[in-house]
Amino acid sequence: MDVDANADGTRGPRRADAAAAAEVFADGGHPEWYRDAVVYSLDVKTFQDSDGDGWGDFRGLIDRLDYLEDLGVDCLWLRPFYPSPLRDNGYDVADYRDVDDRLGSLDEFAELVAELDARGMRLVTDLVLNHTSTDHEWFQRAREDPDSKYHDYYLWTSHIDDAYHTGNIFPEFEDGVWSYDEVAGKHYFHQFYGHQPDLNVANPAVQEELFAIAEFWLERGVDGFRIDAAHPMVLPKGHDAHRLDDPQWLFRELKRRARDVNEEAVLLAEADDEPDRLDFYFAGGEGFDGLFNFVGNSHVTYGVGVGDGWPLYRMFEQIPEAEPGGHVWWANFLRNHDEWNLLKLPHEALEHAREEFRQGGDGRDSWIFGRGHRLRLADLYDGDHDRIAMAHSLLLSLPGTPIVNSGDEIGMHADLDLPERQAVRTPMRWDGDEPNAGFSTADPEDLVIPVDGTGWPGVFQADVASQRGVPGSLFERVADAVDARKRSPEVARGDCSIVHVDPDDVWAHRFDHDGRGLLTVHNLASEPREVVVDFDIDPAGAEPVLGSADYRVADSGVAVTLGGCEYLWLRGETREAGGR
Ligand code: NOJ
Repeated sequence: MDVDANADGTRGPRRADAAAAAEVFADGGHPEWYRDAVVYSLDVKTFQDSDGDGWGDFRGLIDRLDYLEDLGVDCLWLRPFYPSPLRDNGYDVADYRDVDDRLGSLDEFAELVAELDARGMRLVTDLVLNHTSTDHEWFQRAREDPDSKYHDYYLWTSHIDDAYHTGNIFPEFEDGVWSYDEVAGKHYFHQFYGHQPDLNVANPAVQEELFAIAEFWLERGVDGFRIDAAHPMVLPKGHDAHRLDDPQWLFRELKRRARDVNEEAVLLAEADDEPDRLDFYFAGGEGFDGLFNFVGNSHVTYGVGVGDGWPLYRMFEQIPEAEPGGHVWWANFLRNHDEWNLLKLPHEALEHAREEFRQGGDGRDSWIFGRGHRLRLADLYDGDHDRIAMAHSLLLSLPGTPIVNSGDEIGMHADLDLPERQAVRTPMRWDGDEPNAGFSTADPEDLVIPVDGTGWPGVFQADVASQRGVPGSLFERVADAVDARKRSPEVARGDCSIVHVDPDDVWAHRFDHDGRGLLTVHNLASEPREVVVDFDIDPAGAEPVLGSADYRVADSGVAVTLGGCEYLWLRGETREAGGR
């Protein structure tokens, strides 16, 4: 978004013709549902164990759907649940067409789909197309027989010294992108862990396999996919640093094949590329339907953490503008199940964030991969529920589809005693008074990942039981913000612009749609602020959508008094649109 001030003091371009935009939206081939959805990202194996074996499972998830309905989310993104040796938490897939039997079965998956359908909820699953596990049958056959068709599913070299070398994505754990395979007697290429060989995605036989896997799950009722590692997929690969001739073809074809099975299927891609390369992944509307907003993730979470609006301005400046009637769309998030990757911040801010948010001690350190913190939102914000609630309100008000990361809605902390990113993946804490916080009845020794509750002396261990149904709790405030988003179609359909506010530790933006304006104001500071926000609406019809801050609609704008970390969403008929 261009942040030059407009004549009315707002910032950014304004598209007047919302009706025309809506038309494109309707016939431009974009299913609408995902733009209105509020997504909840969870890992089945750490959500709820139903049979006491220490592993979360599909039955446990089904039993907890009431909780998710209560929170108000209407789309689940399930992290990988496929058979896997779990050396990268399931992103090392050993069989694309099944459910890991510790988590359930295909029948139970079908039951989940039916339950979600009955509740009007959608389902997005993770599709890992860049690599498999070394345990995958394709790799086993590839290494055993150089003449097998599977050999060319992967990338090999017998001349390691002449081969293309580039940095590994997990630099702390891997020296490079080649590992020697004793059975094949050659090196194979892997951008992630050595047990995750890259697929040769330029091979038409591999492409066909990948399309067929997408079809397999769409036929079983999923509404779309989170495409893992979409950026590494199109990077140079293998001995000769081979690139796909036409990488966009791969996205286009994947979408075409997916839409042939389910015309409302969507592809949301994890493409953590440079801001000026992001447009590429949309392929002019024929590529991915949305991209995970990594620029937003680093900037928004940092801006809220330091109580300053400039990172938000910078985020809007850097990324292509979300288009209600067009093809650019963001999947926004505050934290995910990986490290909080800071590489998109300017150098000084990155250095600042590295030290400012760093936690650990006794040999533990939150800094990982030379680029981020393995911390949860509650750690970044010192367990301050007011700030976590405000961050969620902001997330839910940003142009794009919001994704709530499981456990953040109750303020769960990281457990730095656990290795690598497991620190931020501990099981859901349902009830702190129950064994294993209600996640499982198993012996703590048998849990898939230990339940957090011991690692942080003095840190309040959040749970659901103490918050659900308790007015003013973090859970209820996040649920209120989700509800506000569901009642605000302007966010997905309106034209967004930044509204400049003084002081700049208060952030405001607005949406204009159908003659109405929706203003959202967030006090990033811990201290109270009084601001006057340029928002010319009819005082008679002004309607607070979220928050209980005092406001007064006057000629010069709206005067708002906000407590520390308080926020307000306000809707009204815009007088500009009313034909002043
Ligand atoms: C991104 C996933 O979010 C991460 O957890 C995983 O390690 C890599 N892709 C490799 O699949």
